[in-house]
Amino acid sequence: MKVLVTGGCGYIGAHTIVDLINNGFDVVSVDSNIRSTTQLLDGIEKITGKKVRNYKVDLCNLEDTHAVFHENRDIVGVIHFAALKTVPESVADPLLYFHNNLTSLINVLKCVKEFNVPNLVFSSSCSVYGNTTALPVVEETPIGEAQSPYARTKQMGEQIIEDYSRVNNTQSIILRYFNPVGAHSSGLIGELPLGKPDNLVPVITQTAIGKIPKMTVFGSDYDTRDGSCVRDYIHVMDIANAHTRALQYLIGHKNATNCEIFNLGTGNGVTVLEAIKAFEKISGVKLNYAMGPRRPGDVISIYANNSRAKEKLGWIPQISIEDSMRTAWQWEVSLRDKVLSN
Ligand code: NAD
Ligand code: WQD
Repeated sequence: MKVLVTGGCGYIGAHTIVDLINNGFDVVSVDSNIRSTTQLLDGIEKITGKKVRNYKVDLCNLEDTHAVFHENRDIVGVIHFAALKTVPESVADPLLYFHNNLTSLINVLKCVKEFNVPNLVFSSSCSVYGNTTALPVVEETPIGEAQSPYARTKQMGEQIIEDYSRVNNTQSIILRYFNPVGAHSSGLIGELPLGKPDNLVPVITQTAIGKIPKMTVFGSDYDTRDGSCVRDYIHVMDIANAHTRALQYLIGHKNATNCEIFNLGTGNGVTVLEAIKAFEKISGVKLNYAMGPRRPGDVISIYANNSRAKEKLGWIPQISIEDSMRTAWQWEVSLRDKVLSN
């Protein structure tokens, strides 16, 4: 069974391709490489022994997107990862985000409709909940005010898929990721932020390796266990496996409605300082950090209730925060070793 993965050269797409191949799916990728290279595809080949074809196509171009679907009329589903995802960039350039994230989604849906693709899985984000205080977050927790144009593209993307699914035959699943972290245990694929990272774990590993001289913990006076923010860090291979399960669930017609939503988190809230301690423990590296002011737009605390994914998809996150940090660190070290050996 063949699956079309958009954004397959990116962080979560590449890890999901590995899990799909390991579960017997054939995969083709569409990625314009606007925020990636094809490097992770080489890693996928080393891990799985399978060469994955990538169509270097901008999904905002309907004609090119249509050509890919036309050539792959035998797909059983689409997993749509492709999007821009940098929150501060979206604040600075909202139109870039609305154009890219929504046009690409609409073009994918137009092709899904025309080619009668039966199943669709969409990457959403816990950022759709906004600044909620109802914790842990369940899927019915009301959608809050988006804290950025990026988050708004996810809220709008979900609504577009819900409205589309109501009147078309496609069965859809929307997956709301909490904070994806870590890398494949082989050290052959991982997160490759182009430029300066914003997310905590790449900031930690780049500080530890010396790419960033000193990192800042944003906020020390929040009403939490230790004054720093709480997040639900979920290993990327656990996230990846949820996509395979979501697809199998749809293919097996186990869904109750045409569009279902699932939270993907561990259910455990971890503070920034706890994440740093977990990293220091597994790496043996003392991190150079300072406590700093709050980062504008940060929610204080958010973590998932993942019961629905557990019950319906049989998905149980397997990987601890320590192993998330271990694999992220192994990946950072492998990137350094690659540079040194070139
Ligand atoms: P990523 O940037 O590593 O991968 C996204 C890929 O999509 C990139 O390779 C990029 O080149 C490609 N892309 C973007 N726009 C495109 C277009 N118009 N046409 C073709 N390709 C295009 O990001 P990721 O972390 O792998 O995220 C994957 C998805 O998960 C995104 O939709 C993101 O919003 C969502 N998400 C990510 C996180 C996270 O923290 N990483 C959390 C929640 C949700
Ligand atoms: C985590 C915690 C920071 C960097 C973002 C998006 C969200 C989703 C996941 C896509 C926060 C703190 C960070 C640093 C720090 N992405 N931090 N020093 O903000 O929870 O979520 O990524 O959908 O939409 O908003 O993730 O990794 O940036 O931050 O103290 O140098 O780490 O303040 O508390 P966030 P993050």
